Amino acid sequence: MNQDELKKQVAEAALEYVESGTVIGVGTGSTANFFIDALAGIKGKIDGTVASSVASAERLKGHGIPVLDLNEAGELSVYIDGADETNSQLHLIKGGGGALTREKIVAGASRKFVCICDESKLVSVLGAFPLPIEVIPMAQSYVARELVKLGGRPELRQGFTTDNGNIILDVKDLEIMEPCKFESELNNIPGIVTVGIFANRPADVLLLGTANGVDTRTAG
Ligand code: A5P
Repeated sequence: MNQDELKKQVAEAALEYVESGTVIGVGTGSTANFFIDALAGIKGKIDGTVASSVASAERLKGHGIPVLDLNEAGELSVYIDGADETNSQLHLIKGGGGALTREKIVAGASRKFVCICDESKLVSVLGAFPLPIEVIPMAQSYVARELVKLGGRPELRQGFTTDNGNIILDVKDLEIMEPCKFESELNNIPGIVTVGIFANRPADVLLLGTANGVDTRTAG
C-alpha cells in the first residue's frame, strides 16, 4: 500500500468514532481530506461539523456537509485530524499545514481526539519534523531569539499567512524529550500564539495505518 492508501484506510476507520446526532470537529491536511471525503457517505448521521481551517470548511461544504461556528456548536463529541509526528503517548507535532491554532482550539473543545496517521508519523522522540509555531508578526525577531536560546533553529515559513493573519516559524534541530513541559514553556513566550506540540491535550486514540491494517492505540 502506498502512503495515500494508508491515509485513506485510517480515514475510513475513523468513521466508527462518529456519533449519531452530534456535531464533530474536523481537522486539516491530506489525511483529514480523506476523512472528509469518507464522511460525505454518512453525512446524514451528524448534525454538523466545526472545521479547523478555511480549506477544510470549503471541502466539507463542497460535499454538502454543514459547517458551524464553534461558538454556536458548544462541546463537540469528537475531533478527527492527522498529525506530522506522534509518539507512543500520543503526544503530537501538528501544524505542517499551518492550521495549528484552530486545530488546538477544536481539539480542546472536543470530548475525544482521534488522530489518524500513516505509520511513517510514529517516532520515539518528537522533533525531527520542524516544530511549527504561530507567531504575531511584530514578535517574529524576538520570538526567534528566544527559540535559539532554547536550542532551536527557527525559520520563517516563506509566503505563508495563517487563517488568523499571523506568521509561522518552523523550528529545526529540536529533540523534544519532555513534550508537556516544553509546550508549556513555549506557551509562556509573549508573541507566540500557538505551539504545534499537542501534549498537554494529547490524542485519546491513534489510528495508525500500516501495511497489515489499522493499528488502534491509546496512550501508554
Ligand atoms: C495541519 O496544520 C496539520 O496539523 C496536519 O494535521 C498535519 O500536517 C498532517 O497533515 P497530513 O495529513 O497532510 O500529513
